[in-house]
Amino acid sequence: MLPVMMKVVKIVDEARGIKSFYFRHRLDSIPGQFVMAWIPRVGEKPMSIAGDDGKEFFLTVSAVGYFSNAKSRLKVGQTIGIRGPLGTCFSLKGKEIALVAGGYGAGPMASLAEKAINQGYSPKKIHYLAGARTKELLLFEQRMKRIGVDVQVSTNDGSKGTKGMVTDVLNELIKRRRKANKPLDMVYCCGPEMMEKAVFDIAVREKIDCQISVERYMKCGIGICGSCCVDPTGWRMCVEGPVLDKKAISKISEFGVYHRDATGRKTFF
Ligand SMILES: Cc1cc2nc3c(=O)[nH]c(=O)nc-3n(C[C@H](O)[C@H](O)[C@H](O)COP(=O)(O)OP(=O)(O)OC[C@H]3O[C@@H](n4cnc5c(N)ncnc54)[C@H](O)[C@@H]3O)c2cc1C
Ligand code: FES
Repeated sequence: MLPVMMKVVKIVDEARGIKSFYFRHRLDSIPGQFVMAWIPRVGEKPMSIAGDDGKEFFLTVSAVGYFSNAKSRLKVGQTIGIRGPLGTCFSLKGKEIALVAGGYGAGPMASLAEKAINQGYSPKKIHYLAGARTKELLLFEQRMKRIGVDVQVSTNDGSKGTKGMVTDVLNELIKRRRKANKPLDMVYCCGPEMMEKAVFDIAVREKIDCQISVERYMKCGIGICGSCCVDPTGWRMCVEGPVLDKKAISKISEFGVYHRDATGRKTFF
């Protein structure tokens, strides 16, 4: 699969060190899918599709290392290569849903909230929970408020919303919805893996269905190289994932324990 060369048409500063890059192209993606983004002479990395309205799509990049810093320096009018959309996606189920977002995982979660609204969900039944270390790193709060969904944020330092972890907010929400006789029946999650593991454990304990995006080191993005395989199933996260349901995640023994780096060496969380 060869990349399609696309021009950056717009750049939006979303949060500290985090920018969105817009491309005018009909990608026909579904929330949860990703693309392989290639910057000539720099490299190619997987990136979640943070928004796609059928005419334009965008990628939200957190500048942390060599590739993401090079991407953050891109200017409007510059061209990069895109392969995709790739991988599995979130599927909408349930009446009362929680979308739990951490870091750039907020892109797929916000996209899923928009899709739910388009499919006729009442905004009151969609709960967008975003967590970050501090308020300058929170993503897509206004984007979610504009479509009227219930937005709840948490920061570790207490600079905005609930002080603590986004999982504290999820636990409270589960209790409140049960009391109101409108229990949550689906939890979606995309974010750092230890946060995802905590969300998964809550879903198991509370007997609520869930879907989670599991990221692994990706090279080819199309199921050939094997770098994104998980133990013990050998599923390739670029093909059988990244989005997995509760039953599938329960079979992955390395989820929340370790992942593999570019050389295949185990790195413990
Ligand atoms: C399905 C998926 C979706 C992603 N979506 C986004 C996104 O929307 N926005 C975003 O900013 N980043 C996203 N990433 C992470 C992104 O691909 C890069 O890992 C990140 O940009 C860091 O690369 P770097 O070269 O800048 O930093 P480095 O210093 O090289 O890497 C920092 C860390 O990123 C991880 N990483 C590096 N290369 C890869 C790779 N090829 N595949 C998986 N993990 C890697 C490693 O854990 C590494 O320790 C996604 C990764 C996956 C697997
Ligand atoms: S990245 Fe090559 S098989 Fe998944």
